[in-house]
Amino acid sequence: MLRPGLSPVQGLGFVLLCLVLGASQSYAFELDLKDSKNATCLYAKWQMNFNISYETINKTTKSVTPGFSNVTYKGSSCGDDENGPKIAVQFGSAFSWSVNFTKKASHYLIDSISFSYNTSDNTVFSGAKDKGIINVSDSVKIEIPLNSMFKCNSLLTLKMNDVVQNYWGVVVQAFVENGTVSKKEFLCDEDKPSTTVTPVTHTTVPSSTTTPTPKEKPGVGTYLVRNSNGTCLLATMGLQLNITQDKVTSVINVNPNLTDSTGSCSPQTSQLRLNGSTIKYLDFVFAVKNENRFYLKEVNVSLLVNDSVFSISNTNLSYWDAPLGSSYMCNKEQTISVSEAFQINTFDLRVQPFSVIEGKYSTAQECPLDDDTILIPIIVGAGLSGLIIVIVIAYLIGRRKSYAGYQTL
Ligand SMILES: *[C@@H]1O[C@H](CO)[C@@H](O)[C@H](O)[C@H]1NC(C)=O
Ligand SMILES: *[C@@H]1O[C@H](CO)[C@@H](O)[C@H](O)[C@H]1NC(C)=O
Ligand SMILES: *[C@@H]1O[C@H](CO)[C@@H](O)[C@H](O)[C@H]1NC(C)=O
Ligand SMILES: *[C@@H]1O[C@H](CO)[C@@H](O)[C@H](O)[C@H]1NC(C)=O
Ligand SMILES: *[C@@H]1O[C@H](CO)[C@@H](O)[C@H](O)[C@H]1NC(C)=O
Ligand SMILES: *[C@@H]1O[C@H](CO)[C@@H](O)[C@H](O)[C@H]1NC(C)=O
Ligand SMILES: *[C@@H]1O[C@H](CO)[C@@H](O)[C@H](O)[C@H]1NC(C)=O
Ligand SMILES: *[C@@H]1O[C@H](CO)[C@@H](O)[C@H](O)[C@H]1NC(C)=O
Ligand SMILES: *[C@@H]1O[C@H](CO)[C@@H](O)[C@H](O)[C@H]1NC(C)=O
Repeated sequence: MLRPGLSPVQGLGFVLLCLVLGASQSYAFELDLKDSKNATCLYAKWQMNFNISYETINKTTKSVTPGFSNVTYKGSSCGDDENGPKIAVQFGSAFSWSVNFTKKASHYLIDSISFSYNTSDNTVFSGAKDKGIINVSDSVKIEIPLNSMFKCNSLLTLKMNDVVQNYWGVVVQAFVENGTVSKKEFLCDEDKPSTTVTPVTHTTVPSSTTTPTPKEKPGVGTYLVRNSNGTCLLATMGLQLNITQDKVTSVINVNPNLTDSTGSCSPQTSQLRLNGSTIKYLDFVFAVKNENRFYLKEVNVSLLVNDSVFSISNTNLSYWDAPLGSSYMCNKEQTISVSEAFQINTFDLRVQPFSVIEGKYSTAQECPLDDDTILIPIIVGAGLSGLIIVIVIAYLIGRRKSYAGYQTL
């Protein structure tokens, strides 16, 4: 077997990049690892994406941004006397990532980050020159005081040979004491307020803990349902699925390019069904109420999460309410809470499940979140009533003064 002799690059620590992430695929996980006594030993929230370049048989270089399907956490453990705790994540058919921790007298270390990929997998690494498992690892050795929560909102970029790893929104504590995560925070250098060259005067620098974590929006797709009369249902939206199982949250962006739509339409109910690699099915069922409005009544979903099937349905929802003959629109992020364990975040949504004419959307009813115009009358109204109150008070004070004046006379 051919195994390219890659050795870990030494001395390449974390480098801060002031770049906004492009439209690549990313993953966020939240992990609460428990020990044999059911007490939390390690807590982590981590957002990441990867880019790998490889050489092809005809000597060109290609790059791959792995998608996060079939995610598992096999090998994650609290550790024992010999080995420290470890987070291990496997995804796609060809990738695995892990980080391990060690304990010192007063500190613990984010010790080493490893990444491995399988260039024999032709579906991902098409035409790769070298085939085999490639491991890269870097001892990052980030020191954190014991019983403190490490936080790093900033983008951290780790380059190891042909692999670029981006991390952000990192929150982690290993060696959790007594099963309770610490309230003490330890910020990474990149998150600390920038120190000026010679601080002569003390100005308040806004704390960078408030910088929002970059959360990538899902791609927006248009999904159609056709029947004998042509297009009968139209939906345009970006979808983000949020699954919480055993306290582990997985956030998955639906890639519209890899998602098919089917469905059915009838006068009283219509259905949109999406299918993809990890989405066995995701059904949106719309119904008519009061004979003149439609709404989203049901969501029925079955997903492959962690190599197992996650299914849930709710037939008693009430979202996306609009008059029949129009479409429903919401550009802002909206959350459909299907159950405690499953939520759908929608972006740039427009949907028309009934009365589609010539394959086009009819006039839109916008969600209240989008409607900024409603604010203007409220602000003007509030301003006016404030003015009226001031005038009335001034008038009353004036009257009292003049009464007083008359009485002294
Ligand atoms: C661990 O705790 C959870 C609730 O905190 C409980 O549902 C579960 O049964 C416990 N498991 C064990 C092995 O004690
Ligand atoms: C952490 O992982 C690195 C690389 O895989 C390994 O060399 C090191 O021994 C590990 N440390 C512990 C404490 O397991
Ligand atoms: C690497 O990928 C090839 C092709 O998909 C597969 O046959 C092989 O078992 C994989 N190796 C490992 C260690 O997963
Ligand atoms: C490289 O080879 C692949 C087939 O393995 C071919 O599809 C591709 O066009 C080639 N690229 C160049 C730049 O020659
Ligand atoms: C954990 O419990 C021990 C014994 O009860 C106590 O001494 C220690 O201070 C506790 N640690 C924390 C972080 O609460
Ligand atoms: C879908 O495909 C289009 C065109 O090929 C591309 O521009 C877009 O980035 C792709 N979207 C995703 C989420 O991969
Ligand atoms: C996912 O769901 C969990 C639990 O309901 C919630 O705390 C978290 O904020 C959600 N994440 C996103 C990105 O919607
Ligand atoms: C995946 O499976 C592992 C055990 O195999 C479990 O500990 C972990 O919580 C699961 N993750 C999700 C997202 O369900
Ligand atoms: C959800 O879909 C599955 C598969 O089509 C079906 O068997 C099940 O009855 C549906 N559940 C509801 C509540 O509609």
